[in-house]
Amino acid sequence: MLIKKPADIRPSEITPPDLFRQRRRLLELATAASVGTLLSGAVRAGEKLTGVRASAYRAEDEPTPFEDVTRYNNFYEFGTSKEAPAKAASRMKTRAWTVVVDGEVTNPQTYAIDDLLKLAPLEDRIYRLRCVEAWSMVIPWVGLPLAEVLKRAEPTGNAKFVEFTTLLDPNQMPGQRSDVLDWPYVEGLRIDEAMHPLTILAVGLYGEVLPHQNGAPIRLVVPWKYGFKSAKSIVRIRLVEQQPASTWMRAAPREYGFYANVNPEVDHPRWSQAKERRIGDFFKRPTLPFNGYGEQVAKLYSGMNLRKFF
Ligand code: MTE
Repeated sequence: MLIKKPADIRPSEITPPDLFRQRRRLLELATAASVGTLLSGAVRAGEKLTGVRASAYRAEDEPTPFEDVTRYNNFYEFGTSKEAPAKAASRMKTRAWTVVVDGEVTNPQTYAIDDLLKLAPLEDRIYRLRCVEAWSMVIPWVGLPLAEVLKRAEPTGNAKFVEFTTLLDPNQMPGQRSDVLDWPYVEGLRIDEAMHPLTILAVGLYGEVLPHQNGAPIRLVVPWKYGFKSAKSIVRIRLVEQQPASTWMRAAPREYGFYANVNPEVDHPRWSQAKERRIGDFFKRPTLPFNGYGEQVAKLYSGMNLRKFF
């Protein structure tokens, strides 16, 4: 996001998701069989997730095609272009993977990822995602409410904020060998934002195990905030008393605030936030306050000056 991108996004040539997946699966099977690594039971990006419960949180907007959701990504650990993560993230190992929940809690936990997924039923949620770079998507996530994970850790009275940390492993994440950002990637939420029922930890999209480039095996999704708040490939969730300094705030404090609520009235120094281009659309559309989730979340900020706390 520190790097200027052309304002115009080329509409992709879209392969229907089913055909795309079929092709990819065939390629995967061919590769795996040829090197003898087709292990039964191994968790693979693209596998169908079972037992997913339908949720009431489903935006009515048309979902962005699977191919665009998984080919147009920000994940600087794998390069700064939108295309790099889809190519470079596939080799990241997402099993074994542990997530630590600690800090201001009476019951700290270290979860094997598959145990964490059992804490609550997985739900499908169709959310809009608005990036600060003025493009947007609509993504059918599969995930569980973050609140379920936090409650089990029993936050103390000092737990005012939650800090999320991405894996640090330059061997697997070649982008971490450059100093484009201060690694590991860190994001933060206020505790009431983290506990809000709209906030989820996503583990899949389009009903399938999360592709690596979208933040496998587990990433944050907060639909009323700009996309950069949604930390990917999380290894630590720490409850803290002081507001965490997020990676983007440290990189450019005038450009990226802690709250990062989608707000058409407060422009980013390099991008107007009044409108957005939905990936695949030609015309821009107006951006909605809180990305259209104001009814559910505006009350979290009553009395706050959102120009100051941007
Ligand atoms: N998380 C990590 N660890 N590294 C990143 O570079 N980019 C952020 C966010 N999470 C990023 C990250 C930004 S800028 C955006 S817009 C979203 O991920 C993009 O998520 P998507 O690729 O699934 O659309």
